[in-house]
Amino acid sequence: MRLAVATCRDFPQFHPDDAELIHQLPPLGITPTPSVWNDPHVPWNSFDAVLIRTVWDYYRHYGEFVAWLHRLESLGMRVVNPLRVLLWNADKRYLLDLERADVPVVPGRISAHADLAAQIRRSGLDEVVVKPTVSAGAWHTLRLRADASDLESALAALPGNREYLIQPYVPEVAGVGEWSLMFFDGSFSHAVRKRPAAGEFRVQEKLGGTVEAAEPPPAATAVAQKALAALPDLGVRGVLYARVDLVETGAGVRLMELELIEPQLYLRFGPDAARRFARALAKRLRSPSDSSSDIGL
Ligand SMILES: Nc1ncnc2c1ncn2[C@@H]1O[C@H](COP(=O)(O)OP(=O)(O)O)[C@@H](O)[C@H]1O
Ligand SMILES: [Mg+2]
Repeated sequence: MRLAVATCRDFPQFHPDDAELIHQLPPLGITPTPSVWNDPHVPWNSFDAVLIRTVWDYYRHYGEFVAWLHRLESLGMRVVNPLRVLLWNADKRYLLDLERADVPVVPGRISAHADLAAQIRRSGLDEVVVKPTVSAGAWHTLRLRADASDLESALAALPGNREYLIQPYVPEVAGVGEWSLMFFDGSFSHAVRKRPAAGEFRVQEKLGGTVEAAEPPPAATAVAQKALAALPDLGVRGVLYARVDLVETGAGVRLMELELIEPQLYLRFGPDAARRFARALAKRLRSPSDSSSDIGL
């Protein structure tokens, strides 16, 4: 079984976080090759399947990314996670779908760039976070006070050709931090807690955030499982790997994000996590292609 592991130009090789996963694959009959998703020289049809991993620039080239996924589909290739999962998850509007399915999410509303200032002032919120609906890695993610005199100029610096999600600012992210719970084929694997640097609200390591292995509170696991259980009814089937990001607030645990495309899975923080992922992947790749979308989680 030849497996293309999709990477990006900035990180073309296997990511250190995935090293143990890559190491586990050959004994399971899988030969992984790192393959930059938008490298025109990659012979995609020489592989049996594509595992999406560190495609960390897809949101900057979104049209090209979607076209590439459709091309893989037209070549009859199996993509993990499946194409429909990726497309649904690429736009943060999926959070509104989950909210309608009674999953406790950080609430949000969508706005065109031109309407942002008016929408923020009308929201009744004192402080908001604004982020592009298609984004990752805290790209153009801003914390803003609704009554700030420089609100317009801060918003003017955001790309004008994007739509945005406006959420209430959740102060607990900067306090207790954000949980990331990893699931393989629907089963909980391991968790980490992420905290931002002092004076920062974005937990990303490139912004000075820290990560530690930790046991998640049962309420966080319950919300994560509820989110995953809501997917089949939304037509989102065949999720093999999932990272569920959550925050504990005074009002209960809230889902911040469900990451089904290119999450860092913090495999080194979970004993045997890489082996669990590798086995789930091998099982999926051995199952008949046309039934993969019906496997559920
Ligand atoms: N509503 C919010 N309240 C507080 N912090 C937030 C909020 N939304 C995002 N953040 C911070 O910004 C980071 C990036 O936002 P996120 O929604 O996770 O998007 P992405 O990871 O796709 O860039 C989060 O990990 C968190 O640290
Ligand atoms: Mg995130």
